[in-house]
Amino acid sequence: MGFFRVLVVLLVLLVVGGAERRRGGGGRRGLVRGRGRAGAVKRLAEECKQYVEAGETYLDCQDRGLTSIPPGWPEDTQHLLLARNRLQVLRDGTFAHLKQLRSLDLQQNWISRVEDGAFAGLDQLHSLLLQNNRLRSLSEEPLTALPRLRYLRLYSNPWACDCQLDSLVRTLQVPSNRQLGNFAKCEEPEQLRGHKLKKLKADLLCEAPPPADPNAPPTPPGHAPHPPAIRKPQDATSLCHTYLVPRPLLDCTSRDLKYVPADIPPDIVKMDMSTNSIQRLRPRDFATAKDLKTLNLSSNSLESIDTAAFAGLLYLRELDLSNNSLQFFQYGVLEDLYFLKRLSLGGNPWRCDYSIHYLVYWLKHHPGVAHSGLVCSEPQEYLDWPVEDYVKTYNADCPKDRQVGGGNAELDKDAANQDTAQELKAETDEEAVGVLPSPLRMRKTFEIIRLS
Ligand SMILES: *[C@@H]1O[C@H](CO)[C@@H](O)[C@H](O)[C@H]1NC(C)=O
Ligand SMILES: *[C@@H]1O[C@H](CO)[C@@H](O)[C@H](O)[C@H]1NC(C)=O
Repeated sequence: MGFFRVLVVLLVLLVVGGAERRRGGGGRRGLVRGRGRAGAVKRLAEECKQYVEAGETYLDCQDRGLTSIPPGWPEDTQHLLLARNRLQVLRDGTFAHLKQLRSLDLQQNWISRVEDGAFAGLDQLHSLLLQNNRLRSLSEEPLTALPRLRYLRLYSNPWACDCQLDSLVRTLQVPSNRQLGNFAKCEEPEQLRGHKLKKLKADLLCEAPPPADPNAPPTPPGHAPHPPAIRKPQDATSLCHTYLVPRPLLDCTSRDLKYVPADIPPDIVKMDMSTNSIQRLRPRDFATAKDLKTLNLSSNSLESIDTAAFAGLLYLRELDLSNNSLQFFQYGVLEDLYFLKRLSLGGNPWRCDYSIHYLVYWLKHHPGVAHSGLVCSEPQEYLDWPVEDYVKTYNADCPKDRQVGGGNAELDKDAANQDTAQELKAETDEEAVGVLPSPLRMRKTFEIIRLS
């Protein structure tokens, strides 16, 4: 496959590059590597993928069934991807030789314990992903080794919100730590379940716990009374590959998905779901994906999109719906997309009748949205017409205009102008009546400005 060839070429380049630097007397990095490098690369070729992107060094060890971190990984690694392995305990000094690390992705492991010195030496680390593990407790101690930490993901762990979590909660709540531990919630005790760590009243954590049930057997220290929550089978992070850098990306291409998976992580910026078998988008399918900027749904079997399907996608800029089975958009589908810039619509059997008017109307009123591929495929009469041309003809043909005369271009323009003028007039009339409550009147004024 092409991908593997590229990989091999990259590895060869790396080896040659390393040799080159050594031969040329090298500089610091060359010296650090020294002997043993060729062996490391060979071993890596079996286990992990090493590559350079935008000048940064990545080591991709996702899905390798790893239960521990073997020694000897390249010391110049800047981004280490360890998602979906079987790590259970992060021991003191585990990453001590990886001093260049800037991001460390440990999500979707079985981690239940992090020793205090686990992250020792990681002076440069700015992103640490620990979501979807089995952590019940964590003190702030391991994090004190990370002076540059800016992003910390802790959600989807069964946090026990008790006195042992006190120092972590206080750290997360420091105002300058805005991006640390967002969305993490308590699993226990019962009365705090679902509460966000960021919002807990830290002072209460170390107060005496409510009297325990005298009949309950004592829980041995360090053991969860409940087994860790089992992940839902349609959970996005278990179905798709997550990449943190250069931008948080969820790669769900070609996974034979029938529906948009649940629980899209809230920090995802780009989501690629092209080449699946999704037939419909349901209400609030993307409600958790608040930061999403690019959404690719190309080459599915989409026939219908619920009016509320895109609810919450406030920052979406690019939406690719090409190569689907869409014939029209229901009224309202696009109203949530305030910042959309590009909309790809090609390769759909758009039906040129009244049902298509909403889409054209919306595009007309959002001239900042570049769209492509909007071509009639039905009825036969309008086959291969740009949909906008069909709508113009429709306007020219409609009864009130027909009495004026034929259907030439000049008239189309007049008709269009007249439409706009009428909308404006209707809105100003309402305004003039002066019976609307003032907030509504304000909104009307705003719409008039947008139209002109
Ligand atoms: C969406 O995915 C398809 C197929 O993988 C690709 O050709 C297209 O360029 C992508 N669109 C965007 C906006 O990235
Ligand atoms: C359109 O999607 C089908 C599968 O749904 C795929 O086989 C085909 O290659 C896609 N075409 C393009 C131009 O992407």
